[in-house]
Amino acid sequence: MTPYEIIARKRDGQELSAEEIHYFVTSYLKGAVKDYQMSAFLMAVFLRGMTDREISALTRSYIESGKVIDLSDIPGKKVDKHSTGGVGDKVSILLAPLVASCGVPVPMISGRGLGHTGGTLDKLESIPGFQTRLSVDTFRQLLKKHGVAMIGQTEDIVPADKRIYALRDVTATVESIPLITASIMSKKIAEGIDGLVLDVKVGNGAFMQEMEQARALAGSLIRVGREFGKNVVVCLTNMDQPLGKKVGNWLEVEECLDGFHGKAPQDLMELTYRLAAHMLVLGGKAADLETAEEMCKAAIASGKAFQKFLEMARAQGADVSVLEKPETYPVARFRATLEARESGYVFRMQTREMGLAAVELGAGRLRAEDPVDAQAGIILFKKVGDSVEKGEPLLEIRTNKEAVIEQVFRRLKNAIVISGQIPKPQPLVLEEILS
Ligand code: URA
Repeated sequence: MTPYEIIARKRDGQELSAEEIHYFVTSYLKGAVKDYQMSAFLMAVFLRGMTDREISALTRSYIESGKVIDLSDIPGKKVDKHSTGGVGDKVSILLAPLVASCGVPVPMISGRGLGHTGGTLDKLESIPGFQTRLSVDTFRQLLKKHGVAMIGQTEDIVPADKRIYALRDVTATVESIPLITASIMSKKIAEGIDGLVLDVKVGNGAFMQEMEQARALAGSLIRVGREFGKNVVVCLTNMDQPLGKKVGNWLEVEECLDGFHGKAPQDLMELTYRLAAHMLVLGGKAADLETAEEMCKAAIASGKAFQKFLEMARAQGADVSVLEKPETYPVARFRATLEARESGYVFRMQTREMGLAAVELGAGRLRAEDPVDAQAGIILFKKVGDSVEKGEPLLEIRTNKEAVIEQVFRRLKNAIVISGQIPKPQPLVLEEILS
């Protein structure tokens, strides 16, 4: 078996054996399979798909590329949450400390920005000093002491995902059910969790734009979760507009700070409470979702959740003064406002375009090795359904790259559709599947 033959077999739509998949992934990590061969393989998987058996084998080979963390000596059921990726989706930063403050340990391994979507790690690293590259031992110690730790894939934990994720990001191979399943479930299984809440995004800003595709992804995630003995809950949630009003790394942390003080936009709080409630039920801290949501609201109102966030950030090396006084954070050099060209209602947003605009402003990567700009992003003044007058500001962009402003505006002008018609309100949580 050679890498060439494996790529060719997948290209021709054949089912690969577990051995072939394992060989290909481990050879990539050893350098015997090159980036260009892995890219071709990923495109073949993207176009041809994988059977359930292949998806399980791919997930297993990712997990076996590193260590599986044993958290059995930490009391309580460990529960995590992961999103399939959206625009302005900053829920993890708000939710992990919130859930931990209610007594459920949250070991969280997150990813970086992917395609047009942002990544929790890039957002956390916009906080001065915040370390996400921690060893397994440190991760365990932090979890034991603080009940929460948020880190990235490392050379120890799912290194295969770390490398392949970066490659998918720049080779247009993200929107694939097998690749998303292996990427998410490997990280989550390696963390040593008992339960998992998955937020599968659906809509024009999600990797899965249609409900049917999103249900198929949910089914794949649940199947793999079951195979590895994990309790999984999936929420299918609307991504037809950015979540909250801020898109971009530090801007999203800022909005989470508003959330900890109970002042974030309603959609962000609603989703955070719902996902957090499922985690408390899975973690055995609440008998039902209503009780769990009340516990979460009380933890925000009392400041307990914010204190837990500060405790976690401090423990991971952050300078928390900026979290207490976000107005001291440096602002991007260039700011510009997009105004409405007509009066009416915001009828629709092309959310993917907005995510790509944020990437162009500097908030995400165009090449795997690119750094991200913590200050770049978009602030929305209007959301779908809001009325707007001609000349009123729709949004503000922030960037340190003056040269991109014109092209970003061209993109954004077409991304917000204004109409005389009021759009039909859409629910945020579309479906919930308990495994
Ligand atoms: N989140 C991940 O961790 N991986 C994906 O492939 C998509 C979203």
